[in-house]
Amino acid sequence: MKNITGFSFTGKRVLIRVDFNVPLDENFKITDDSRIVATLPTIKKVISDGGKAIIISHLGRPKKGFEERFSLKHIVNHLSFLLDRNVAFSGDCIGENTANDVAKMQDKDVLLLENLRFYKEEKSGDRSFAKQLSELADVYINDAFGTAHRAHASTTIITQFFPNEKYFGLLFKKEITNLEFALRSTKGPFTAIIGGAKITGKIDVITALLDKVDNLIIGGGMAYTFAKSMGANIGNSLVEDEKIGLAKQLIELAKSKGVNLYLPSDSVNANKFDNNAETNTSEITNIPNGFMGLDIGQESIAKFSEIIEHSKTIIWNGPMGVFEMSNFEKGTREIANAICKVTEKGAYSLVGGGDSVAAIKQFGLAKKVSYISTGGGAMLAYLEGKTLPGVDAILS
Ligand code: 3PG
Ligand code: MG
Repeated sequence: MKNITGFSFTGKRVLIRVDFNVPLDENFKITDDSRIVATLPTIKKVISDGGKAIIISHLGRPKKGFEERFSLKHIVNHLSFLLDRNVAFSGDCIGENTANDVAKMQDKDVLLLENLRFYKEEKSGDRSFAKQLSELADVYINDAFGTAHRAHASTTIITQFFPNEKYFGLLFKKEITNLEFALRSTKGPFTAIIGGAKITGKIDVITALLDKVDNLIIGGGMAYTFAKSMGANIGNSLVEDEKIGLAKQLIELAKSKGVNLYLPSDSVNANKFDNNAETNTSEITNIPNGFMGLDIGQESIAKFSEIIEHSKTIIWNGPMGVFEMSNFEKGTREIANAICKVTEKGAYSLVGGGDSVAAIKQFGLAKKVSYISTGGGAMLAYLEGKTLPGVDAILS
Protein backbone atom coordinates (compact mmCIF):
# COMPACT_ATOMS: atom_id res chain seq x y z
CA MET A 1 0.00 0.00 0.00
CA LYS A 2 1.12 3.54 -0.72
CA ASN A 3 1.29 4.84 2.81
CA ILE A 4 2.89 7.91 4.26
CA THR A 5 5.33 6.40 6.70
CA GLY A 6 8.40 6.69 4.52
CA PHE A 7 7.49 10.03 2.98
CA SER A 8 8.47 13.49 4.20
CA PHE A 9 5.93 16.30 3.84
CA THR A 10 8.37 19.10 4.62
CA GLY A 11 7.20 22.32 2.97
CA LYS A 12 4.31 20.58 1.19
CA ARG A 13 0.67 21.65 1.12
CA VAL A 14 -1.08 18.42 2.05
CA LEU A 15 -4.79 17.82 1.45
CA ILE A 16 -5.97 15.27 4.02
CA ARG A 17 -9.42 13.76 3.36
CA VAL A 18 -10.76 12.59 6.72
CA ASP A 19 -14.13 11.28 7.87
CA PHE A 20 -15.22 13.78 10.53
CA ASN A 21 -18.82 12.64 10.08
CA VAL A 22 -19.29 12.50 13.87
CA PRO A 23 -22.49 12.70 15.92
CA LEU A 24 -23.33 16.16 17.33
CA ASP A 25 -25.97 16.93 19.96
CA GLU A 26 -28.52 19.76 19.67
CA ASN A 27 -25.91 22.25 20.94
CA PHE A 28 -23.45 21.08 18.26
CA LYS A 29 -21.28 19.35 20.83
CA ILE A 30 -19.50 16.22 19.61
CA THR A 31 -20.91 13.16 21.38
CA ASP A 32 -18.38 10.67 20.03
CA ASP A 33 -15.00 11.90 18.79
CA SER A 34 -13.48 8.50 17.90
CA ARG A 35 -13.30 9.27 14.20
CA ILE A 36 -11.40 12.48 14.91
CA VAL A 37 -9.05 10.87 17.41
CA ALA A 38 -8.38 8.04 14.96
CA THR A 39 -6.93 10.35 12.32
CA LEU A 40 -4.68 12.37 14.63
CA PRO A 41 -1.60 10.24 13.81
CA THR A 42 -1.87 11.18 10.13
CA ILE A 43 -2.38 14.88 10.82
CA LYS A 44 0.48 14.87 13.34
CA LYS A 45 2.80 13.13 10.89
CA VAL A 46 2.24 15.91 8.34
CA ILE A 47 2.73 18.64 10.95
CA SER A 48 5.82 17.10 12.48
CA ASP A 49 7.41 16.80 9.04
CA GLY A 50 6.84 20.54 8.60
CA GLY A 51 3.99 20.26 6.10
CA LYS A 52 0.81 22.31 5.87
CA ALA A 53 -2.22 20.22 6.83
CA ILE A 54 -5.34 21.17 4.87
CA ILE A 55 -8.16 19.02 6.22
CA ILE A 56 -11.30 18.20 4.22
CA SER A 57 -14.38 16.18 5.23
CA HIS A 58 -18.10 15.81 4.92
CA LEU A 59 -20.51 15.95 7.86
CA GLY A 60 -23.99 14.51 7.62
CA ARG A 61 -26.13 14.60 4.53
CA PRO A 62 -26.90 18.26 3.75
CA LYS A 63 -29.58 18.65 1.09
CA LYS A 64 -29.04 22.08 -0.45
CA GLY A 65 -25.89 24.01 0.36
CA PHE A 66 -24.99 25.44 3.75
CA GLU A 67 -26.82 24.17 6.83
CA GLU A 68 -25.67 25.35 10.24
CA ARG A 69 -25.99 21.93 11.87
CA PHE A 70 -23.68 20.37 9.29
CA SER A 71 -20.97 23.03 9.45
CA LEU A 72 -17.51 21.72 10.23
CA LYS A 73 -16.86 24.86 12.26
CA HIS A 74 -18.35 22.86 15.16
CA ILE A 75 -15.30 20.60 15.00
CA VAL A 76 -12.58 23.30 15.08
CA ASN A 77 -12.23 23.79 18.84
CA HIS A 78 -12.15 20.11 19.62
CA LEU A 79 -9.62 19.36 16.91
CA SER A 80 -7.50 22.21 18.19
CA PHE A 81 -7.74 20.77 21.71
CA LEU A 82 -6.79 17.27 20.54
CA LEU A 83 -3.83 18.50 18.49
CA ASP A 84 -2.84 21.01 21.14
CA ARG A 85 -2.37 23.70 18.54
CA ASN A 86 -4.32 26.38 16.72
CA VAL A 87 -6.61 25.15 13.94
CA ALA A 88 -7.77 27.74 11.41
CA PHE A 89 -11.11 27.39 9.63
CA SER A 90 -12.08 28.31 6.10
CA GLY A 91 -15.79 29.00 5.56
CA ASP A 92 -15.68 27.29 2.16
CA CYS A 93 -13.75 24.42 0.58
CA ILE A 94 -13.08 25.89 -2.87
CA GLY A 95 -12.94 29.41 -4.31
CA GLU A 96 -10.91 32.55 -3.81
CA ASN A 97 -11.33 32.91 -0.04
CA THR A 98 -10.23 29.37 0.62
CA ALA A 99 -7.28 29.74 -1.76
CA ASN A 100 -6.29 32.86 0.23
CA ASP A 101 -6.62 30.99 3.53
CA VAL A 102 -4.29 28.30 2.17
CA ALA A 103 -1.84 30.88 0.82
CA LYS A 104 -1.53 32.36 4.31
CA MET A 105 -0.51 29.04 5.86
CA GLN A 106 2.95 28.57 7.38
CA ASP A 107 4.63 25.18 7.64
CA LYS A 108 3.07 23.10 10.45
CA ASP A 109 -0.22 25.06 10.24
CA VAL A 110 -3.56 23.25 10.27
CA LEU A 111 -6.53 24.53 8.26
CA LEU A 112 -9.94 22.84 8.31
CA LEU A 113 -12.17 23.55 5.31
CA GLU A 114 -15.97 23.73 5.34
CA ASN A 115 -18.17 20.67 4.65
CA LEU A 116 -17.53 19.30 1.15
CA ARG A 117 -21.17 18.22 0.83
CA PHE A 118 -22.36 21.82 0.85
CA TYR A 119 -21.55 21.36 -2.84
CA LYS A 120 -23.70 18.73 -4.56
CA GLU A 121 -20.67 18.21 -6.81
CA GLU A 122 -18.99 16.30 -3.99
CA LYS A 123 -21.46 13.42 -4.06
CA SER A 124 -21.93 13.48 -7.82
CA GLY A 125 -18.17 13.07 -8.21
CA ASP A 126 -17.84 16.21 -10.30
CA ARG A 127 -14.49 16.42 -12.03
CA SER A 128 -14.15 20.19 -12.03
CA PHE A 129 -15.01 20.38 -8.32
CA ALA A 130 -12.37 17.73 -7.63
CA LYS A 131 -9.88 19.69 -9.72
CA GLN A 132 -10.56 22.88 -7.78
CA LEU A 133 -9.96 21.03 -4.51
CA SER A 134 -6.77 19.50 -5.86
CA GLU A 135 -5.37 22.91 -6.75
CA LEU A 136 -5.13 23.75 -3.05
CA ALA A 137 -2.38 21.23 -2.44
CA ASP A 138 0.77 19.42 -3.62
CA VAL A 139 -0.04 16.06 -2.07
CA TYR A 140 -3.25 14.15 -1.31
CA ILE A 141 -3.80 11.73 1.57
CA ASN A 142 -6.98 9.72 2.02
CA ASP A 143 -7.52 8.87 5.69
CA ALA A 144 -11.33 8.70 5.40
CA PHE A 145 -11.82 4.96 5.65
CA GLY A 146 -15.44 5.46 6.79
CA THR A 147 -16.17 7.05 3.40
CA ALA A 148 -14.09 4.67 1.28
CA HIS A 149 -17.25 3.01 -0.13
CA ARG A 150 -18.32 6.30 -1.74
CA ALA A 151 -17.03 7.29 -5.19
CA HIS A 152 -17.20 10.98 -4.38
CA ALA A 153 -15.16 13.89 -5.74
CA SER A 154 -12.90 14.19 -2.68
CA THR A 155 -12.41 10.47 -2.09
CA THR A 156 -12.02 9.14 -5.61
CA ILE A 157 -12.19 11.57 -8.53
CA ILE A 158 -9.60 13.89 -7.00
CA THR A 159 -6.83 11.29 -7.18
CA GLN A 160 -6.47 11.75 -10.94
CA PHE A 161 -4.97 15.15 -10.20
CA PHE A 162 -2.35 13.59 -7.94
CA PRO A 163 -1.14 10.71 -10.13
CA ASN A 164 2.07 10.28 -8.14
CA GLU A 165 1.30 12.19 -4.98
CA LYS A 166 -1.59 10.20 -3.48
CA TYR A 167 -1.35 8.19 -0.30
CA PHE A 168 -3.34 6.24 2.24
CA GLY A 169 -3.30 7.80 5.70
CA LEU A 170 -2.27 5.86 8.79
CA LEU A 171 -5.85 5.19 9.91
CA PHE A 172 -6.88 3.98 6.46
CA LYS A 173 -3.99 1.56 6.44
CA LYS A 174 -4.76 0.34 9.95
CA GLU A 175 -8.38 -0.33 9.02
CA ILE A 176 -7.42 -2.42 6.00
CA THR A 177 -4.76 -4.28 7.96
CA ASN A 178 -7.27 -5.22 10.66
CA LEU A 179 -10.03 -6.23 8.26
CA GLU A 180 -7.60 -8.33 6.26
CA PHE A 181 -6.30 -9.88 9.44
CA ALA A 182 -9.79 -10.98 10.45
CA LEU A 183 -10.83 -12.17 7.00
CA ARG A 184 -7.63 -14.13 6.40
CA SER A 185 -7.45 -15.50 9.88
CA THR A 186 -6.79 -19.19 10.02
CA LYS A 187 -7.42 -19.18 13.75
CA GLY A 188 -10.82 -20.81 14.16
CA PRO A 189 -13.50 -21.12 15.19
CA PHE A 190 -14.35 -17.92 13.34
CA THR A 191 -17.61 -16.38 14.54
CA ALA A 192 -19.52 -13.47 13.04
CA ILE A 193 -22.21 -11.76 15.07
CA ILE A 194 -24.62 -9.74 12.98
CA GLY A 195 -27.39 -7.73 14.56
CA GLY A 196 -29.31 -4.53 14.07
CA ALA A 197 -32.84 -3.70 13.11
CA LYS A 198 -33.06 -4.90 9.53
CA ILE A 199 -31.88 -7.60 7.17
CA THR A 200 -31.90 -4.99 4.40
CA GLY A 201 -28.34 -3.73 4.14
CA LYS A 202 -26.89 -6.86 5.74
CA ILE A 203 -27.82 -9.49 3.14
CA ASP A 204 -24.61 -9.19 1.15
CA VAL A 205 -22.41 -9.29 4.20
CA ILE A 206 -24.21 -12.32 5.62
CA THR A 207 -23.88 -14.10 2.27
CA ALA A 208 -20.19 -13.26 1.98
CA LEU A 209 -19.44 -14.24 5.56
CA LEU A 210 -21.00 -17.67 5.03
CA ASP A 211 -17.92 -18.45 2.92
CA LYS A 212 -15.58 -17.49 5.75
CA VAL A 213 -17.01 -18.27 9.15
CA ASP A 214 -17.74 -21.36 11.23
CA ASN A 215 -20.50 -19.71 13.23
CA LEU A 216 -22.96 -16.98 12.35
CA ILE A 217 -24.96 -15.50 15.21
CA ILE A 218 -27.98 -13.42 14.27
CA GLY A 219 -29.58 -11.07 16.80
CA GLY A 220 -31.37 -7.76 16.98
CA GLY A 221 -34.53 -6.78 15.14
CA MET A 222 -33.61 -8.79 12.05
CA ALA A 223 -33.76 -12.02 14.05
CA TYR A 224 -37.57 -11.74 14.12
CA THR A 225 -37.80 -11.88 10.34
CA PHE A 226 -35.64 -15.01 10.43
CA ALA A 227 -37.84 -16.47 13.17
CA LYS A 228 -41.01 -15.70 11.21
CA SER A 229 -39.53 -17.39 8.15
CA MET A 230 -39.39 -20.56 10.23
CA GLY A 231 -43.04 -20.25 11.20
CA ALA A 232 -42.71 -18.47 14.53
CA ASN A 233 -45.45 -16.32 16.02
CA ILE A 234 -43.54 -13.09 16.61
CA GLY A 235 -46.42 -10.90 17.82
CA ASN A 236 -45.87 -7.23 17.01
CA SER A 237 -42.10 -7.56 16.55
CA LEU A 238 -40.33 -5.71 13.81
CA VAL A 239 -40.56 -7.72 10.62
CA GLU A 240 -39.63 -7.23 6.98
CA ASP A 241 -42.31 -9.37 5.38
CA GLU A 242 -40.77 -8.95 1.94
CA LYS A 243 -37.51 -10.43 3.27
CA ILE A 244 -38.99 -13.62 4.74
CA GLY A 245 -38.20 -15.69 1.66
CA LEU A 246 -34.68 -14.38 1.66
CA ALA A 247 -34.21 -15.17 5.35
CA LYS A 248 -35.26 -18.73 4.58
CA GLN A 249 -32.74 -18.90 1.74
CA LEU A 250 -29.95 -17.63 3.98
CA ILE A 251 -30.74 -20.31 6.55
CA GLU A 252 -30.58 -22.94 3.78
CA LEU A 253 -27.38 -21.45 2.39
CA ALA A 254 -25.73 -21.63 5.82
CA LYS A 255 -26.74 -25.26 6.07
CA SER A 256 -25.35 -26.11 2.64
CA LYS A 257 -22.06 -24.43 3.45
CA GLY A 258 -21.73 -26.19 6.79
CA VAL A 259 -21.95 -22.94 8.78
CA ASN A 260 -23.64 -23.09 12.18
CA LEU A 261 -26.30 -20.41 12.10
CA TYR A 262 -27.60 -19.42 15.53
CA LEU A 263 -30.83 -17.50 16.02
CA PRO A 264 -32.11 -16.38 19.42
CA SER A 265 -34.29 -19.02 21.08
CA ASP A 266 -35.95 -16.63 23.51
CA SER A 267 -36.97 -13.00 23.45
CA VAL A 268 -37.58 -10.14 25.89
CA ASN A 269 -40.84 -8.53 24.84
CA ALA A 270 -42.61 -5.24 25.48
CA ASN A 271 -46.16 -4.03 24.85
CA LYS A 272 -44.78 -0.80 23.33
CA PHE A 273 -41.48 0.64 22.10
CA ASP A 274 -40.73 2.29 25.42
CA ASN A 275 -38.30 1.65 28.25
CA ASN A 276 -41.20 1.71 30.72
CA ALA A 277 -43.37 -0.70 28.76
CA GLU A 278 -44.90 -3.79 30.31
CA THR A 279 -42.48 -6.68 29.60
CA ASN A 280 -42.26 -10.47 29.55
CA THR A 281 -39.93 -13.14 28.24
CA SER A 282 -40.98 -15.93 25.91
CA GLU A 283 -39.72 -18.42 23.37
CA ILE A 284 -39.01 -16.46 20.18
CA THR A 285 -41.44 -18.78 18.41
CA ASN A 286 -44.26 -17.81 20.73
CA ILE A 287 -44.32 -14.07 21.44
CA PRO A 288 -47.66 -13.10 23.01
CA ASN A 289 -50.00 -11.10 20.81
CA GLY A 290 -49.67 -7.38 21.45
CA PHE A 291 -45.98 -7.70 22.40
CA MET A 292 -42.83 -6.98 20.41
CA GLY A 293 -39.38 -8.47 20.94
CA LEU A 294 -36.81 -5.84 21.95
CA ASP A 295 -33.92 -7.96 23.20
CA ILE A 296 -32.64 -11.52 23.25
CA GLY A 297 -33.47 -13.56 26.36
CA GLN A 298 -31.27 -15.27 28.94
CA GLU A 299 -31.18 -18.63 27.18
CA SER A 300 -29.96 -16.98 23.96
CA ILE A 301 -27.39 -14.95 25.89
CA ALA A 302 -26.02 -18.16 27.44
CA LYS A 303 -25.88 -19.99 24.10
CA PHE A 304 -24.33 -17.09 22.16
CA SER A 305 -21.80 -16.44 24.94
CA GLU A 306 -20.74 -20.07 24.88
CA ILE A 307 -20.15 -19.94 21.10
CA ILE A 308 -18.21 -16.70 21.45
CA GLU A 309 -16.11 -17.98 24.34
CA HIS A 310 -14.91 -20.88 22.20
CA SER A 311 -14.04 -18.68 19.21
CA LYS A 312 -10.62 -17.47 18.16
CA THR A 313 -11.66 -14.86 15.60
CA ILE A 314 -14.75 -12.67 16.00
CA ILE A 315 -16.41 -10.00 13.91
CA TRP A 316 -19.30 -8.06 15.41
CA ASN A 317 -21.63 -5.66 13.61
CA GLY A 318 -25.03 -4.66 14.99
CA PRO A 319 -26.61 -4.80 18.47
CA MET A 320 -28.68 -7.68 19.87
CA GLY A 321 -31.51 -5.47 21.10
CA VAL A 322 -32.57 -1.91 21.84
CA PHE A 323 -29.45 -1.20 23.93
CA GLU A 324 -30.30 2.51 24.04
CA MET A 325 -33.06 1.61 26.54
CA SER A 326 -31.82 0.31 29.89
CA ASN A 327 -34.44 -2.44 30.07
CA PHE A 328 -33.42 -3.89 26.70
CA GLU A 329 -29.63 -3.52 26.76
CA LYS A 330 -28.77 -6.75 28.52
CA GLY A 331 -28.39 -8.97 25.46
CA THR A 332 -26.03 -6.53 23.77
CA ARG A 333 -24.09 -5.95 27.00
CA GLU A 334 -23.63 -9.67 27.68
CA ILE A 335 -22.51 -10.39 24.11
CA ALA A 336 -20.03 -7.51 24.40
CA ASN A 337 -18.81 -8.98 27.70
CA ALA A 338 -18.35 -12.41 26.16
CA ILE A 339 -16.34 -10.91 23.29
CA CYS A 340 -14.11 -9.01 25.71
CA LYS A 341 -13.59 -12.07 27.88
CA VAL A 342 -12.42 -14.25 25.01
CA THR A 343 -10.27 -11.41 23.63
CA GLU A 344 -8.47 -11.29 26.94
CA LYS A 345 -7.70 -14.98 26.48
CA GLY A 346 -6.07 -14.29 23.12
CA ALA A 347 -8.86 -14.29 20.54
CA TYR A 348 -8.97 -11.55 17.90
CA SER A 349 -12.10 -9.37 17.90
CA LEU A 350 -13.13 -6.70 15.43
CA VAL A 351 -16.15 -4.49 16.08
CA GLY A 352 -17.64 -2.03 13.61
CA GLY A 353 -20.79 -0.18 12.68
CA GLY A 354 -22.10 2.91 14.46
CA ASP A 355 -24.52 1.13 16.82
CA SER A 356 -22.26 -1.68 18.03
CA VAL A 357 -19.45 0.80 18.58
CA ALA A 358 -21.79 3.14 20.50
CA ALA A 359 -22.93 0.15 22.58
CA ILE A 360 -19.44 -1.04 23.42
CA LYS A 361 -18.54 2.50 24.48
CA GLN A 362 -21.70 2.83 26.54
CA PHE A 363 -20.63 -0.31 28.44
CA GLY A 364 -17.08 1.03 28.93
CA LEU A 365 -15.59 -1.92 27.03
CA ALA A 366 -14.03 -0.13 24.04
CA LYS A 367 -10.47 -0.85 25.15
CA LYS A 368 -11.14 -4.56 25.61
CA VAL A 369 -11.68 -5.59 22.01
CA SER A 370 -8.84 -6.02 19.52
CA TYR A 371 -9.97 -3.38 17.05
CA ILE A 372 -12.83 -0.93 16.62
CA SER A 373 -13.41 0.13 13.05
CA THR A 374 -14.38 3.71 12.22
CA GLY A 375 -16.31 2.33 9.25
CA GLY A 376 -19.96 1.34 9.17
CA GLY A 377 -21.00 0.98 5.54
CA ALA A 378 -17.35 0.91 4.48
CA MET A 379 -16.55 -1.96 6.81
CA LEU A 380 -19.55 -3.96 5.59
CA ALA A 381 -18.60 -3.33 1.96
CA TYR A 382 -15.07 -4.51 2.68
CA LEU A 383 -16.30 -7.66 4.41
CA GLU A 384 -18.56 -8.28 1.42
CA GLY A 385 -15.43 -8.45 -0.70
CA LYS A 386 -16.40 -5.38 -2.71
CA THR A 387 -13.80 -3.11 -4.18
CA LEU A 388 -13.94 0.17 -2.31
CA PRO A 389 -13.69 3.13 -4.71
CA GLY A 390 -11.55 5.02 -2.18
CA VAL A 391 -9.04 2.16 -2.09
CA ASP A 392 -8.99 1.68 -5.83
CA ALA A 393 -8.40 5.36 -6.49
CA ILE A 394 -5.14 5.34 -4.56
CA LEU A 395 -3.92 2.00 -5.90
CA SER A 396 -4.70 2.57 -9.56
C1 3PG B 1 -20.70 7.13 7.31
O1 3PG B 1 -20.81 7.57 8.45
O2 3PG B 1 -21.32 6.13 6.91
C2 3PG B 1 -19.71 7.79 6.40
O3 3PG B 1 -19.24 8.98 6.95
C3 3PG B 1 -20.31 8.03 5.04
O4 3PG B 1 -21.43 8.84 5.15
P1 3PG B 1 -22.69 8.56 4.21
O5 3PG B 1 -23.27 7.24 4.61
O6 3PG B 1 -23.61 9.73 4.45
O7 3PG B 1 -22.17 8.54 2.80
MG1 MG C 1 -23.29 5.64 6.13
